[in-house]
Amino acid sequence: MNLFDVYPINDVTIVKAKGSYVWDDKGEQYLDMYGGHAVISIGHTHPHWVKRIEEQLEKIAFYSNSIKIPLQQQLADKLGKVSGKQDYQLFLCNSGAEANENALKLASFHNGRKKIVAFSKSFHGRTSLAVAVTDNKNYIAPVNETDNVIFLPFNDEDALEECFKKKGKEISSVIIEGIQGVGGINVADESFLKKIRSLCDEYGAVYIADSVQCGFGRSGKFFSHDFAGVNADIYTMAKGMGNGFPVAGMIVAPFFKPKHFMLGTTFGGNQLACSASLAVLEIIEEEKLMGNAVMVGKYLRDELQDIPQLKNVRGRGLMIGFDVPEDLKDLKKNLLWNQKIFTGESKPNVIRLLPSLALKKRDAEDFIEALKEEIAVLTGETEKV
Ligand SMILES: Cc1ncc(COP(=O)(O)O)c(C=O)c1O
Repeated sequence: MNLFDVYPINDVTIVKAKGSYVWDDKGEQYLDMYGGHAVISIGHTHPHWVKRIEEQLEKIAFYSNSIKIPLQQQLADKLGKVSGKQDYQLFLCNSGAEANENALKLASFHNGRKKIVAFSKSFHGRTSLAVAVTDNKNYIAPVNETDNVIFLPFNDEDALEECFKKKGKEISSVIIEGIQGVGGINVADESFLKKIRSLCDEYGAVYIADSVQCGFGRSGKFFSHDFAGVNADIYTMAKGMGNGFPVAGMIVAPFFKPKHFMLGTTFGGNQLACSASLAVLEIIEEEKLMGNAVMVGKYLRDELQDIPQLKNVRGRGLMIGFDVPEDLKDLKKNLLWNQKIFTGESKPNVIRLLPSLALKKRDAEDFIEALKEEIAVLTGETEKV
C-alpha cells in the first residue's frame, strides 16, 4: 500500500530529538527553529514530560469519558492558573480543527445564529466548518461550501463595523487568530481585537480566539489575543498543548451553559493526553518559558531587523516571520541542507520561526550567524566553503 501523498516532504528521516535539536538516521544534528510546526513548546523529549507520560502509561492510558477522570480537573485547574482564566470551562478534544469546529458549533448552539465572520489569510483547520472559515479555496471541497461565512479583510475595523451594522443580528461568531500562522505571521492589531470584543458585546455574537498556533505561551503571553487587554469568549488550543502528544481543547466563558451531549469525543481528555499537557504547563511555569520566549524572541527580531536583505520582520515572542526577496528564495532550503537548521515557511516568500519556547539564546545566536552566512553566499558576497 502507498501513502496518500498530500505533503511535499524534505528528504530526511528524524529519529531522535532533545531540547531544540533533532538528529537524522545518519546521526546528523539539526537545530529545530520550526518546532515541528509550532508543536514543540517545552523542548523535544523533555525529561519531566517523558516521565509523566511513562508513569501514566504504566497505570492507565485510556478509559472513556463515561467515567470520572480527575486528571481532566487537574488540567483545568492548572490551565486556569497559568492562563489567568480561572472562571472559564474546559472542553478537551484531539486537534486544532476539532477545537475550532466545536467552538463554532457551541457559539451557534448558544445564540441560535448561523453566520460566522472570518478574515483574509485565516487558517483554522481542515474539518468541515473549520475549513469553511479558512481563507484558501484549495482546501475547501464542494461539500464544505456554505453561505454562512463572511470573509473580511484582516485588521480592517471599518469593514468589520460595516458588516455588523448590516448583518449584526445574524452573526453567531467572529473567529480570529491572534497572530496568523499559516497566513504568514500577521499580528492582529490590539484595537482590532478590542473592536471585535465591543461589536460582539453589542450584537450578541461570540468572540472566538483561535490560539491553536499562537497560544500556549508562544507569543510571550499565554494567549496572544491577551495583548489587547480584552477577553475572548472562547479560546481554542492544540499544537503546543501536548509538546507533540496529540491533545487539544477549548476554554469557554462562564456564561456558556453546557447541555449533555451537545459536544463530545471518544479520545479527547484521555488520561495520557491530560498527563502530557499537565507536564507542559508545569514546565512552562517552572522554567518560566513565557519569559524566555519574550527575551529570546526580542533578541531574534532585533537581529533580523538589522539584516538589510530581510523585510518586514514581525511577530511576538517565539512566533516570528520575515519576508525573503526573490533572489534569496533558496534561503530556507540552504539553511536546511547547508546549515542543518529547520525553519517554517508561508507561501510565497515568508520564513516562519516557531521554535521551542525553551530555545536558548546561544542557539538563537547560532541561527543568526548561519542565516547571515547563507545570505552572503546567495548574494555572492562570499564563496561557499
Ligand atoms: C491557527 C490554526 N488553527 C487551526 C489549525 C488546525 O490544527 P490541526 O492541524 O491540529 O487540526 C492550525 C494548524 O496549523 C492552525 O495553525
